[in-house]
Amino acid sequence: MDGNALFIQLAYVVAAALFIFGLKGLGSADTARRGNLMSAVGMLVAIIAALLDQGIVDYQFILAGVVVGGLIGAAAARLVQMTSMPEMVALFNGFGGMASLLVGTAALSGDANTFTLITIVLSILIGGVTFTGSLVAWGKLSETISSGAVQFGGQQIVNSLIVLAVVASGVMFCLQPENPQWLLLMIGLSLLFGIMAVIPIGGADMPVVISLLNSYSGLAACAAGFAINNNILIVAGSLVGASGIILTQIMCKAMNRSLSHVLFSGFATVSDAETEVEGEIKPISVEDAYYVLEAASSVAVIPGYGMAVAQAQHVVKELMELLEENGAEVNFGIHPVAGRMPGHMNVLLAEADVPYDQLLEMDDINPRMETVDVAIVIGANDVVNPAAREVESSPIYGMPVINVDMARTVFVLKRSMASGFAGIENPLFYKENTRMLFGDAKESIGGLIREFS
Ligand code: TAP
Repeated sequence: MDGNALFIQLAYVVAAALFIFGLKGLGSADTARRGNLMSAVGMLVAIIAALLDQGIVDYQFILAGVVVGGLIGAAAARLVQMTSMPEMVALFNGFGGMASLLVGTAALSGDANTFTLITIVLSILIGGVTFTGSLVAWGKLSETISSGAVQFGGQQIVNSLIVLAVVASGVMFCLQPENPQWLLLMIGLSLLFGIMAVIPIGGADMPVVISLLNSYSGLAACAAGFAINNNILIVAGSLVGASGIILTQIMCKAMNRSLSHVLFSGFATVSDAETEVEGEIKPISVEDAYYVLEAASSVAVIPGYGMAVAQAQHVVKELMELLEENGAEVNFGIHPVAGRMPGHMNVLLAEADVPYDQLLEMDDINPRMETVDVAIVIGANDVVNPAAREVESSPIYGMPVINVDMARTVFVLKRSMASGFAGIENPLFYKENTRMLFGDAKESIGGLIREFS
């Protein structure tokens, strides 16, 4: 190994270490910024090392790519709303998959050995599935196409046949790499399979699929890394592949859905069951809610998707400060799948400068719930639904939820009696200790703030 090659491999080791420490930093809110910075520095080191690696680069194309990609990325970062981040991530995954497909295709040469051919097949197959699968996921999330599950009779048989054809074309490609028809067939079939695999998955399960596709994009990059013999691509791809699959598992567990259920059965089929409810709805006015809050010494705020819709995070922070000035202890209970993407509530509350140590995870806030005077549910529904504990026939039975009904009083801030994402009835709204504060969350909290002032 000459000096240049040694320097490049050392730079890759440094970059890989920075990625790993960066990921570790992302594990807690206090160290997340530093973790992000470390990973970004790692990426810079990796890019510079790759550019210095003679033989890989064509500077003209790279420069053109940097300018065009940089402009599109900068514009997207400014224009895309926080609530549209899952769509944005879907597109990122898709382009990552396409990049691996192209790298795999470009790695094909007359003297490629069997191992290289297999890695080329994997980068093309996984990359192709990730590309079209992510585009369909983007279409469903942005409602450019219908967000429901598209299912038809014999779908699993059709999909199995496509998988068989994909594998067969991959094998034929390895046997006759000089024959371009196998390469083209393999690319075409993998693109088709990406579409067929994602259309039967329904709107509610899409964030899980996005996380899974994120994992695939990493695996495709890892295979491409083997195809072009680039160590940092192998390491970075494996890290993305592994973290994506861990996140997928966490989301499935928090929704009480198995991955096979997400992939092979539309969400609508489980949300048809009816939940019987007893009791009556008891609406409350802003003024009466104020009197109860004014006397409270411990308050738990449980935010959900509606807080994101209402963009109520800043007024929530203001209310928190007023309650604290009034002598109450205020904590936030964060459910792992509240909102529409992992960490959705944490991001919104961090934007409003709510201190991290007041954000308690579900397992930390639940044991304290019985000592809470008032639990304020702000635009959350499924994640506080006691049917998950009490109603065995409920589609969400067994899903871990935040037990707000165990607080002395519960205020639910929402606009109507509409159901949440899972499309099911919520017995919480009918409980003896629940009061419904109807209206847009931002306006209702604004009203409470005016009462306090
Ligand atoms: P949801 O169950 O979706 O309920 C949101 C509630 O917010 C609705 O009932 C809605 O009622 C209310 N709302 C909407 N706009 C509002 C506004 N402007 N002001 C006040 N309220 C408003 O939300 P959640 O409890 O956060 O649960 C998340 C759901 O998403 C779960 O079913 C979860 O499984 C699913 N999911 C989440 C993720 C991730 S990673 N977060 C991934 C996949 C699936 P009104 O229309 O009556 O106002």
